[in-house]
Amino acid sequence: MKRVAVYPGSFDPVTNGHLDIIHRALEFVDELIIAILINSEKKALFTVKERMEMIRTVTSGNDRIQLDQFDGLLVDYARKRQAQMIIRGLRAVSDFDYEFQMALMNRRLEPKIETVFLLPAEQYSYVSSRLVKEICSLGGTLRGLVPEEVEKNMKKKLRTEEKRK
Ligand code: PNS
Repeated sequence: MKRVAVYPGSFDPVTNGHLDIIHRALEFVDELIIAILINSEKKALFTVKERMEMIRTVTSGNDRIQLDQFDGLLVDYARKRQAQMIIRGLRAVSDFDYEFQMALMNRRLEPKIETVFLLPAEQYSYVSSRLVKEICSLGGTLRGLVPEEVEKNMKKKLRTEEKRK
């Protein structure tokens, strides 16, 4: 049976931490669906299309990766895509409470789908999209935290936002 996993998230934007988790997941799944949540409540820097485009660029060439967007319940989406697993990265103990609740709630909603937690490499254990955006907006370097392409797009986006103010 083909092992299919969904890796859900906001990916606003994708970081080297996300990429590390993607590569680790590909070690044991046949197909990885990276699914971006369409969340109208959360103010995002990039549109879903832009986020998807960036992920496509930095993961290009891997035919075991699929990109998609979803709304509604994650388990409904995972079921629809016939995924047996949900992949989540766990960076630190501070992630644990939220992830634990979410995994158990998802299991309650759909017992057949297993949440698999992966630990990123140590150098990414403190990398988050939120901090990366903050550093970029304050002029700090993002070397090693996000792919170059993403850094370029962030700078461009933040410059445009700055001009708009
Ligand atoms: O990268 P993020 O923003 O922490 O990802 C959160 C995400 C997308 C995994 C979570 O918000 C989610 O699954 N949302 C879909 C709605 C849903 O299923 N909610 C019930 C979760 S128990």
